[in-house]
Amino acid sequence: MFGPPASLVIWKKRDRRDSFARAMTASLDLAARLLRLLPPEAAHRLALRGLSLLPVRAAGRGDDPILATRVLGIDFPNPIGLAAGFDKSAEVFARLPGLGFGFVEVGSVTPRPQVGNPRPRLFRLSRDRALINRMGFNNDGLAAVAARLAARPGAERRVLGANLGKNKDSADAAADYAAGVKALAPLADYLVVNVSSPNTPGLRALQGREPLAALLAAARAARGAERPPLLLKLSPDLTEADKADVAAAALAGGADGLIVANTTVARPATLRDPAAREAGGLSGRPLFAPSTAVLADMYRLTGGRLPIIGVGGIGSAEDAYAKIRAGASLLQLYTAFVYQGPGLVERIKRGLAARLRADGFGRVAEAVGADHGGRPV
Ligand SMILES: Cc1cc2nc3c(=O)[nH]c(=O)nc-3n(C[C@H](O)[C@H](O)[C@H](O)COP(=O)(O)O)c2cc1C
Repeated sequence: MFGPPASLVIWKKRDRRDSFARAMTASLDLAARLLRLLPPEAAHRLALRGLSLLPVRAAGRGDDPILATRVLGIDFPNPIGLAAGFDKSAEVFARLPGLGFGFVEVGSVTPRPQVGNPRPRLFRLSRDRALINRMGFNNDGLAAVAARLAARPGAERRVLGANLGKNKDSADAAADYAAGVKALAPLADYLVVNVSSPNTPGLRALQGREPLAALLAAARAARGAERPPLLLKLSPDLTEADKADVAAAALAGGADGLIVANTTVARPATLRDPAAREAGGLSGRPLFAPSTAVLADMYRLTGGRLPIIGVGGIGSAEDAYAKIRAGASLLQLYTAFVYQGPGLVERIKRGLAARLRADGFGRVAEAVGADHGGRPV
């Protein structure tokens, strides 16, 4: 009867939970720093092993309500997602929301398992805060990934995307994507047709007007129903004509949303690290400006009518906010997570919430496309 008031007990409990979470994040950031002493692919394997030991936690616990957003008919506790390529074979996806991500995308998954390109195939450009990869869709294949997703704990809400690719030796790209859609549509909240990885010969040519229309038609036919939403992931290296073609195909009903962008085959003159010579796709800080420019172009070309996930070089709250203002409804990151560790996610969320408030926005959606003079729809 004379115990502490209930609010104090709750506050103390929350305080204990918060300091536990802070200590946990600090040790994970330290672990991420130590991992960077290893060769990059070994570090990635070890990170996956370590993450598989984390407890499964619900997404969105403690997220600032200003960050909650509804896109593609899906509720996201916050707009910061982990990009494709980190958890290609869906080994740790259930642990990642515990690091603060609002959603996670597994893949790219190909119909049959694939070993990918010979090693070394992943390079750090530490001086440029960048990575170059030519992994070549190494993954365990649709059957294994579908089994892991089917076994996911269902009680806690978290948003999961599945990114689809084609096998290197497959002659029928449309059939590969259709197989991916059939296998994973019942198991994912959204699907991604990835025609933009630079490391599968001929893949990016599928972004041309005719092949793209045929591919999207096959993917939609395989889905059968209206859901889950089907997104198209684009290269940042598209020409002006490509961008107009893609926008037309997507608006003609081919895609429910876009992801802009994948890694680039360009090598900006600013790169200083000797590893810049390696072949493959460049990600991280040097990708921020070019990928944000393509994002703004696609927002303009689609009249803001298709939700866009903005990805490429996000490493701070400022970057995240700039992508939203350029037209992104949701965001993803990968490379900065490698360099800065999991604490980055909380830092971005805090900074983003503060920036939204400072500019008088009540929700993420109000700021989408703000640089274009407000939402056209
Ligand atoms: C090692 C590595 C592997 C990747 N694998 C994939 C993939 O399988 N499918 C895909 O769509 N994107 C893949 N990506 C691209 C990322 O999803 C993302 O689009 C790109 O890295 C830009 O974001 P960032 O600058 O935050 O890393 C990969 C990126 C890296 C660094």
